[in-house]
This record gives sequence, C-alpha cells and structure tokens, in this order.
Amino acid sequence: MIPARGGTRTSSSSRTKRTISRSVLALGLVLGCVSAVKREDFKTCAQSGFCTRNRAYAELAKETPQWISPFQLNPSSLRLQGGILTGDLINIEEDKQPSSKSGLAFELHLLDNDSVRVRINERDPIHPRYDGVKDTVLIKPYGMANENSYQKLAKDDSGVLTIQYGNKNQNTIKVNSAPFKIEFLVNGVSTVVLNDEGLLKFERLRKKQEEAAQEKEIVDEDKLVDQGDENKDDEVKIEKSELETKLEANMWEEKFKEYTDSKPRGPESFGMDITFSGIDHVYGIPQHASSLSLKATKGTDAPYNEPYRLYNLDVFEYEVDNPMALYGSIPFMLGHSKNNTAAVFWMNAAETWIDVEKSPEDKTGGILSWIKTKKPVSAPSTKTHWISEAGVLDLFVFLGPTHRDIFRQYTSLVGTTALPQAFSIAYHQCRWNYNTQQDVAEVDAGFDEHDIPYDVLWLDIEHTNGKRYFTWDHAKFPDPMDMQRALGAKGRKMVTIIDPHIKKDNDYYVSKEGAELDVYIKNKDGNSDFDGWCWPGSSQWIDFYNPKARDWWASQFSYDRYVGSTNTLFTWNDMNEPSVFSGPEITIPKDVIHYGNMEHRNVHNLYGTMFHSATAQGLTQRNETNQRPFVLSRAFFAGTQRFGAIWTGDNLATWEHLEVASPMLLTIGLAGIPFSGADVGGFFGNPEPELLTRWYQAGIYYPFFRAHAHLDSKRREPWLFGEPYTTQMREAIRTRYSFLPFWYTLFQESSVDGMPIIRPMFVEFPEDEAVFGMDDQYMVGNALLVKPVSKPGVTRSTVYFAGTEKWFGIKDYSVEQGPGAKEVASPADKIPVYQRAGTIVPKRERPRRSSKAMENDPFTLVIALDSNGEATGRIYLDDGESFDYQTGDYILREFKVADKVLTSRNLKPADAGETSEFVKRAGALRIERLVVLGSTVPLKEVTVDGRAVQVECSQAPTDGSYVCTVKEPKVLIGEDFSIAFA
Ligand code: GLC
Repeated sequence: MIPARGGTRTSSSSRTKRTISRSVLALGLVLGCVSAVKREDFKTCAQSGFCTRNRAYAELAKETPQWISPFQLNPSSLRLQGGILTGDLINIEEDKQPSSKSGLAFELHLLDNDSVRVRINERDPIHPRYDGVKDTVLIKPYGMANENSYQKLAKDDSGVLTIQYGNKNQNTIKVNSAPFKIEFLVNGVSTVVLNDEGLLKFERLRKKQEEAAQEKEIVDEDKLVDQGDENKDDEVKIEKSELETKLEANMWEEKFKEYTDSKPRGPESFGMDITFSGIDHVYGIPQHASSLSLKATKGTDAPYNEPYRLYNLDVFEYEVDNPMALYGSIPFMLGHSKNNTAAVFWMNAAETWIDVEKSPEDKTGGILSWIKTKKPVSAPSTKTHWISEAGVLDLFVFLGPTHRDIFRQYTSLVGTTALPQAFSIAYHQCRWNYNTQQDVAEVDAGFDEHDIPYDVLWLDIEHTNGKRYFTWDHAKFPDPMDMQRALGAKGRKMVTIIDPHIKKDNDYYVSKEGAELDVYIKNKDGNSDFDGWCWPGSSQWIDFYNPKARDWWASQFSYDRYVGSTNTLFTWNDMNEPSVFSGPEITIPKDVIHYGNMEHRNVHNLYGTMFHSATAQGLTQRNETNQRPFVLSRAFFAGTQRFGAIWTGDNLATWEHLEVASPMLLTIGLAGIPFSGADVGGFFGNPEPELLTRWYQAGIYYPFFRAHAHLDSKRREPWLFGEPYTTQMREAIRTRYSFLPFWYTLFQESSVDGMPIIRPMFVEFPEDEAVFGMDDQYMVGNALLVKPVSKPGVTRSTVYFAGTEKWFGIKDYSVEQGPGAKEVASPADKIPVYQRAGTIVPKRERPRRSSKAMENDPFTLVIALDSNGEATGRIYLDDGESFDYQTGDYILREFKVADKVLTSRNLKPADAGETSEFVKRAGALRIERLVVLGSTVPLKEVTVDGRAVQVECSQAPTDGSYVCTVKEPKVLIGEDFSIAFA
C-alpha cells in the first residue's frame, strides 16, 4: 500500500524523517524553545461525532428548565433474584408503545465483595452490540452476594425501590424508576449517583434507510417551521438548530483530515453521568499528562475545555497539563473525601470521553429530594459524564468503604499485578540504540568500571534485520547468544524490542506464516489484509482476537523459533496502541475488521493488552524452568498488570516532564497497574546534567526504573558527565538497590491485595484534606515519603509531613515532626526522602554489580519507632524467578516492635507448601544490622535470648531522639526471634 499521508512518519524512510523531526525538537530543547504536540493530528470532542452528540445532549439538558431524563424503568418488570435485579428500561420519547422487545435491558448485580455491576444493553438489536470486553478483562466469574446478605425493601410512594446490602448491611441502593436514577449510599451517606443529571443517552442500532427517511422528515418539518415562523426571533432559531446539528453530528460517516471512518453500523454510542456526592477530588482514568486530582473540563473557570479522552494513541511530543489521550486507557475513577470513598469502573474498550464538573454544593436535598429521610450533605460534589462510542454500558461501582477495600474489590475482578522477576525491579539501561555487540560490551564494562549497579541492557529496533522482529542484524550483532551469556555471567539480562507490526515481506518467515495462517487484521471489506505504514515500511498487524493468532504468536518466543534468544532474554512490546503512521490519528482505522467480523472500534483500547498478554504467554511457555516472564508494554488497559510493566512513553528531557511523571505514575497505580515508570532522563532531547541527575534521584522511586533516550540524543550513560554528577547518579542507583528487599515485598503485597506500590498521600492519610490534591510528593508503600526535585537550581524544598508522628531522613536520619509543611534541604546530591515513624524497612546495603549478585547478602532492618515506641514491617523472599512461590516456595515474615522487644514472626500459612533448598538458604541469611530511629533514650543493652549484642547510639541531627545501630545480632532473616531493647 502507498501510505496515505506525507509528513514525518509515512515516507519510505519514515524513521529517518521521524528522526529529523525529533532532531529539530532536540535543537529546540537546546535552544530553550518550548516544543508543542501536533494537536491537529488528534481529534477534539468537536471533531468526534459521538462525543459531540453526547456533549450536545448534556447541553440540551442544561438549557432545558427542569430537565427530566426520558428513561424510566417499567416498575412491573423489576425482579430481584439470585442477587440480580432485572427490568425493562424505556425511553418514553422513543418507546411510545413499549413491548417486551423494545427498550433496553437493565441489570444490577450485587457482588459478594461490596461492589455492584450495572448493565444496560439493547433488548432486541438489529445485530448484537459488542459485549466481549468482559471476556478479556474480568479474570473469573465473580461471586454473587449471598441471598441472606441483601434484602429488598418495599417501594415507597415515589416508586423508589430500596435494596439494603452488604455483610454489615452497610450499603443502600435506591433505584428510582421514573426518571431512571440509582443512588448508592454507604452507612447512610450518599456516595455515587447514576443518571442524577439525566444525561443517559443510548443510541440504538438502526438501519441507514430509516435514518435517511427520518432525516428527510426533519428537513421537511424544518421547512414548514421556517416558512411559518419568518417573523420570529432568528437568534433563538439558529441556536436551536446548532444544537440540533450537534445532536445528530456524523452519525453515518466521519471525516477527519484525509481520513473517512465509514461507520457501517451507524451511531451506537451511549453516555451517562455519574455523580460522586460530597466528593471534591476524583482520581484515575489514566493516561493523561496531567495532575493526580482530575481537573474540571466543564463549568465556570474549568481549567480544561475538552473532556479527558481515553483512546490509545502514539502522541508524538506529548504536552503536559492536557486531557488529550495518550498510549493507555483505564476507565477507572476513584472519588475520595474525608467522609466517603467510592470508585467506578466503566468497562468499555471503545473510544471514551469523560467530562468532569465540580459543583460547589451537593444536591442531595435538591433533585434527590425523594430521599426524604436523609439530611442534605452540603459538601462539594463532582459530576462526571462518561461517553463511549460502541458496545454496552457495563459499569462496576465499588463501595469500599475504605480505599484499601476498593483496590481489593477492583483487582479481584481485573486481576492484581503479576509478581515480577526480582531483576526487573532493579535498574534498566536502555537507549535507541546500543549499536553493536561491541557497544553493548563497552557499556556493560562502563558500569563495572564506575561501580554502578545495573541489571538489564536493552536493544531497540535497530538491532534487527530491517525491523523484522525476532531477527538480528548479524553485521552488528554477530553472536547474540554469546552477548547474552556474557551479560548473564554477571547476573545481568537483556531485553529486545518486538513490535506488533509485521513487515510485509515474503522472505520474512513471520510475515509469511502470518499470511498462511490468515491471522492479520482485515480491511473494512472483511477480506483483504489491512496494510499500513510503520517502522519497517509496509506492514500488517496481527489480529489477537483470532484464536489461532495468539498461540502462534506465543510460539514465536520459543528458543528454537527465536534464533539467538536465551533464557536471559526478555521482551519490550512497543507501538501497540497500535501506532500506524499512515492511519487516522496515527493509529489503525476504526472500521478495520477482527476475527468474527468484529469492528476494531469496539476493542481499540484493548489491542495493546491482547498483544502484551500473548507475548507474556510466549515467554512463560518458552522454557522448561518455569520462569516468570518480563514484558514491558507501552499501550495498556484495565488488567494489563497481569502481564507485565508499562511506561509512560515518549516524554521530553524537560523539567516539566520530570514533574508530571509523578502524578502520571500515581494515577496509573491507582487504576491497578503498579509496575510503571517514566523514561529517566526524558526520551527526546538532551537533558543538562542537573536535570538528568535529578531524574535519577526521582526515578529510583519509580516501580519500573529505566533510563532511555532517543536515537538522536547524545549518549548519557551515568559516567559521561564527570563529577559531581557521576557520583550523584551512582549514589542514587545504589540507593535503589539498597531498598530492593522493600520493593520486592511491596510487589508481593500488591500482587495479593491490589494495593498501589507508590501511593498518593491521601491513600496513607485519608483524613488529611491538605493532601487530597497533592501530587508533587508521594509514598512508597506505607513507609517512605518521596519529594522529587523538579526545578533547576533548587537546594531547598517544602515537604508536607502528614500525620502526627515523626519522619526520619533516610540518609542523615534528620527528624521532622508532622503535621505541617516545612522547608528542608535538598542539595544537589539528594532529594528529600523520609521514613515514617511506626515502620520497619528491610534493606541490603552492600553495593554490588547487579541484584543477582546481592542474592547472598545479609540484611539491615531500619526501624522507625513511633511515639509509643512501636513499629511494624514485613519481608517477602523467594527465588526471584520462578512460579514456585505459587506452591508455597517463599518466606513471608512480619517484624514488630512493641514493649521494647523486636520480634520476627512467620506469616506464611502452615498449609501453603514446602520451601525449596534455595529459599531455605535465603532464609538462613543473617540480619547484619538494625538501625533503630526515634528512641527517646539511647539504647544501653540489647539482648537476643539473654545474649548481649553490641549497640552504638548517637543523637539525631535535628531533635533529641537517638539513632542506634545494633551490629551483628546474629539472627536469621527467615527465623523466629526476639530482640530486647533496654
Ligand atoms: C517509540 C518508543 C521509544 C522507542 C522508539 C523506537 O517511539 O516509545 O521508546 O525508542 O519507538 O523503537
């Protein structure tokens, strides 16, 4: 195919041109110019038919005095059985004579975990609406609420059906029939209301001819109105017709730039408002380069005038502080206030837009006056309006009551993070590209020469033979297995890039096999293979909805297929939005066809995840050693956490991008993907040494920690900038390594209960309103407070110390007392990081080459006592590689200080399974040091089973407490012990 568009991405030398454009950018950065995203490449809501139609409907509602939603539940149709309430949902304007076939089918499921699912689908569509997202996203059939845990209360006079539900009967669901509206209350407090604003709109599938006939009627009517109304107020007429035009915008075809979306099924979008009552801060719906607390997109003084968009896209030079769509999409939103927390998951993988509007006052006493018994809550509320292009309305409401409950409820449906291999949470060194095998060897040696640890070296697209993935450019990489073995000998790994576009080339085995198996995405005719332009030139995209495709793709990773690969080689899946240089908005057209005659429009936001999961399957099944996979993906959706890590894509080497990385990663973590990072140093451009150093100091607190750089950027391995920068970067990376036992324990916790690993302040301090909008500092687990420096020339930073306890600087043990903001030192060699009183953090403090080389090292426990002299913490250990932990091959222990005694206790259930020799050896490693912070008196005597142990104390730099170091207490990490302090 000849690429449809010119410009930077589509010519035969697309890479070169893209590179040129990026070089111009790099020059711009050097010259201090501000670069700009090419906004014109991407749609605004006004350029998207279904977004316009739904937003116009909201406008109509606003402009109509006493707007009432035309949707009503037929009261006589409501049945509650087996935890499911069903009924007929009628639009009184469309269903003049409702029958059992007309209208919409309404379902409300009461789940056994305090969440509720609401589904709305067409009763008898002319063809089925796509309803397959659930099959890919939900991990297993969920449990329904036990018949005894809910009761239906009689309808009151106003037709409200009340369901009381939950283990403690704490949840109330009020279903209002006319107009249709559902309110969720937790312990009597209203939290979420569906269709409170009456914005539910549901475009039913229809035949085009009928539409055309209807359109004709409207035109005729208009003519009549026009003729009869000549003397009426013209302005009113124009305004009305503008709104009408918007209400019917682009129903059957949509043009954007030189592209036409053929929309063969016509309009099929739907939208609904969701109000978070009494809640001022809502979070989630990544990915946007924006703040943690979502900004208003509507209403007076709204910072944004476009809705947040969810549509996986490859956005070149993305801009910060913007609701534009980026590489990944998770339609999960959490609202939090001092009084209540609730979340929703809008399970839809089609393009989605979300408006956010802040209302200063809750309307519980207004429109919701039917809840007569409840006092109005006059706290601010957040109104959100969700609009999706296709599929069915399938929504989960999580009722908590705490946010910890919500993370558990949500991830019990979509899955928690896969436990990563231990090496993958250490440091990754990447650039586009390490050019030759020699280059790889030199960079590897550079780390050793400069005593900087690292675990993984990455190869970008240039390592292949002409962007044919699974092949090597043998002139540059003559012996890939030897290269991997050399790294492996030092405990290091390698990652190669494998993208989803397959070069169209009959001499390329992957391309040929794909064609023979017939597994490529089809053009809209449903017959011919779709062909687009990407890195290799003319390419095809694998259809992972084709059952043959998935296993075939996975089989490509076996060692005999992927020639030159070994068990220390892992995978990077990029460009999987998918990025198509010749396509509309740099992606694949919506009307291309997947297996089963399914339009791409329905599943766009899931495509990247389907690819990611098939790759993870490939790595899992490629070996006999039962090794966990590691796959990094750029595109993501709800559930991606089950398959691997993600990163935030092509950021810029600017201070603004360093700054926005924190809220972006926090948001992605809240939405269920804890394993994420941003390119350290910034992808485009050349960071000045100060920026790069500050980025390392921040990046060591990203769950996924990788430096990466664009092809045209200057080399930036940490030793290239001279002193003091090399020392500062070395120190930062070593700090990451010293905390690896803590990180690994956090990953295990997250893999069990869905807790984010890096956490917004409000997650740890849910009652402190001062932190609800805070995103320039955050917590790692419950223990470390991190405040990145994201401005040049800064040596002092204001840190907010939440809670009423102390905080201890991790380097100098300086003490700060909460609550309150305080200016602290943030000199060039460190950023403010504090350990919270009441926590115990396991560390390994001997600098080594790689995490593997630390495997036999002893541990340090840093114990930060609270004002009662107490602290707790945990450690999780396993072989770091295999799936054996699933059958009990691990150690999980709790450390606790109470009554001046530190105890270590086993948390692994007795029936969890046996530990291997390897894990037994790990458990027999000793604790070489205890650092006790926050003691008001110096510890004089420390004894283990009556045996005295050496202790040294000094006064903490900033208050009267003591820092005491207990050396060689001679206890093992995996055994029960108790150590007495006096
Ligand atoms: C994309 C990726 C980037 C990678 C480049 C070349 O822009 O986001 O990380 O280096 O492609 O593969």
